[in-house]
Amino acid sequence: MIMGRGLVNRLLALIAAPAALALPSFAQAEDGYQLWLRYEPLEGAALERLHGFGPQRLPSDLLWAQQSPTLDAASRELIRGFAGLESDNWAVPGGTRDKKASSRQILLSCPDNRGDGNVAFTVKSERRDIRIRGSSDLACLYGAYALLRELSQSHDPTKIDLNERPAMPLRMLDNWDDPDGYVLRGYSGRSIYDWWKLPEHLDQRLVDYARANASIGINGVVVNNVNASALFLTDRYVPKLARVADAWRPYGIRLYISARFSAPKDVGGLPSADPLDPAVQAWWKARADALYAAIPDFGGFLVKANSEGEPGPQDYRRTHADGANALARAIGNRGVVIWRAFVYSAEDQTDRAKQAYNEFVPLDGKFDANVILQVKNGPIDFQPREPFHPLFGSMPHTRLMFEGQITKEYLGQATHLAYLAPYWKEVLGADTGRGGTVAQVIAPAGMAGVANTGSDRNWSGSHFNQANWYAFGRLAWDPNLSAEQIAREWAAQTFSRAPQFLDKVVPMMIASRQAVADYMTPLGLTHQMATGHHYGPGPWICDLQRPEWNPCYYSKADKGGIGFDRTAGGSNALSQYAPSVAAQWTDPKAIDEDYLLWFHHVPWDFRMKSGKPLWSELIQRYDRGIATADEMAQTWASLQGYIDPERFTDTADYLRIQQEDARWWRDASIANWQSINGLPLPAGTRPPEHPLDYYKALAFPEAPGE
Ligand code: GCU
Repeated sequence: MIMGRGLVNRLLALIAAPAALALPSFAQAEDGYQLWLRYEPLEGAALERLHGFGPQRLPSDLLWAQQSPTLDAASRELIRGFAGLESDNWAVPGGTRDKKASSRQILLSCPDNRGDGNVAFTVKSERRDIRIRGSSDLACLYGAYALLRELSQSHDPTKIDLNERPAMPLRMLDNWDDPDGYVLRGYSGRSIYDWWKLPEHLDQRLVDYARANASIGINGVVVNNVNASALFLTDRYVPKLARVADAWRPYGIRLYISARFSAPKDVGGLPSADPLDPAVQAWWKARADALYAAIPDFGGFLVKANSEGEPGPQDYRRTHADGANALARAIGNRGVVIWRAFVYSAEDQTDRAKQAYNEFVPLDGKFDANVILQVKNGPIDFQPREPFHPLFGSMPHTRLMFEGQITKEYLGQATHLAYLAPYWKEVLGADTGRGGTVAQVIAPAGMAGVANTGSDRNWSGSHFNQANWYAFGRLAWDPNLSAEQIAREWAAQTFSRAPQFLDKVVPMMIASRQAVADYMTPLGLTHQMATGHHYGPGPWICDLQRPEWNPCYYSKADKGGIGFDRTAGGSNALSQYAPSVAAQWTDPKAIDEDYLLWFHHVPWDFRMKSGKPLWSELIQRYDRGIATADEMAQTWASLQGYIDPERFTDTADYLRIQQEDARWWRDASIANWQSINGLPLPAGTRPPEHPLDYYKALAFPEAPGE
């Protein structure tokens, strides 16, 4: 064990020269760049408690068995954290401090670096020390973040007693970034990857990205769009990818790429990409070898195949399993192939919600052991609410991974406040009826989130969108955490730990996603967004080339009623669920009404549980969504004193946009339904502000698009 003076001096030197560490500048205006890693000074009793912890005043020494880049990252984080939390002692230029302090310690014990991916840790306060014990260096880094998370919430240091391990091995972000800097469904600026300047220049932001990800337990990142460019498989990109992987390694982030299935043809000079062709297989093997030579811990390939026009094995009359296995054999036991289940073919027009299940269930057991199937949370496409995907639980011989969309393509993108932890919890906690919840089904694989990160100073397009990045990582670490707890710890670290603030902001966050579902697609309606931008309403759209691209395909609204009949009398998508699960959705009178129009086509005068006809209830749901948006704006206004002016104003502006958009959604939707059902508005209902044609004519060439 190294202990002592030399180290203490080094710590002080580090604090005295933050520039050498390339710390994000604390002195800057509050632009959101620091995310939840702000380590704002503790005050009053909390500060006293931390100071008074043990007989001495300050944590002073960091001890570790052996140094490594990961332990360096851990110690730097602890220094940074304590420097912030105890700013009165640590921010002294030159780093002079109380001599007595030196006997209080934070001990990092990470002796057993087995390299088996074990990242379990404990954090305990022991007499006058805090000891972080980990089964690897990375475990100690996670422990350091966990300790600082506790202290940042002003939890009592003498009571810290954590014992954690992640619930699943893969906790990943998928960046949908193109090599030219464009981010598909990105609402926070340009890509954070500057492939043009790599490998010579690595932007500090990529290190900050790894640090933020590690702080919430993320351990893998796919750097490019699933609609993949084959460039990432060329020799020219190997050193670029290696430079990024090197920067991320200390933070335990493995790098993956989206692989274009036709790459053997596109950039390999082969006449075909047939996965059963030995020349194609040899090409993939050579690519994998080149990547592993440069990046020994390369994670593997993510593949979107035969989906939305992307190439795939079916182009050669091969199955998804043939395609996945060809790539998996090239990777071997060095990594994984993550194959996406997001498919819906142009030929089968009965019900898009059924197609992935129909295509993949027959392939259960046919995938190699290092293939993981990545399944979106629901059977359509990241809508404000969907029932869990019926593939979860239906492929017992295949490892399935959960895919959620942090970027909120269909939930108001950058501007609307929609905290997604309650949504993901809804899905993760769903009982598949086939031997466990969704969280249990995915536990041997993991979770991937389509990232909302970009070049904006605040990273995520809005300050509150950072909460979704944070919540995603925390849930992948532990799906049993409650949405409230995650919101509370995020808000305390990001904005203010004042209980008066948290008691208001947490319920506001919890209510937000239901509000969006209510004013966009209430009662189980789905995919009513306008084509292209997917931001505003387009329920009237019915003339797009493929039926299932049209909102009218999903609403099935006609004079007689509204909703998609997925019962035995309709598409029978219900039959894809276990009988016990299907049973809860079969009867339109008994169903949780949030799913009513997802599973049932019901008449406009269908009697709801409230006793009201559907038409009235539908309107009330839109109004309820607006009311919640209004309340959120009021709540935020009442919190001004707790938040710096920059972030307060940004958020207040966006909430105003959300209020307006909620009205736009409601009015356009009601005008549309009325044009179909011809019904008068129930007494006391505010009529839409404009006639339907007004809403239909709106065009937004400036909107971030496809
Ligand atoms: C959505 C999104 C597409 C994306 C696709 C996917 O449909 O709109 O842009 O490519 O998801 O998940 O592959």
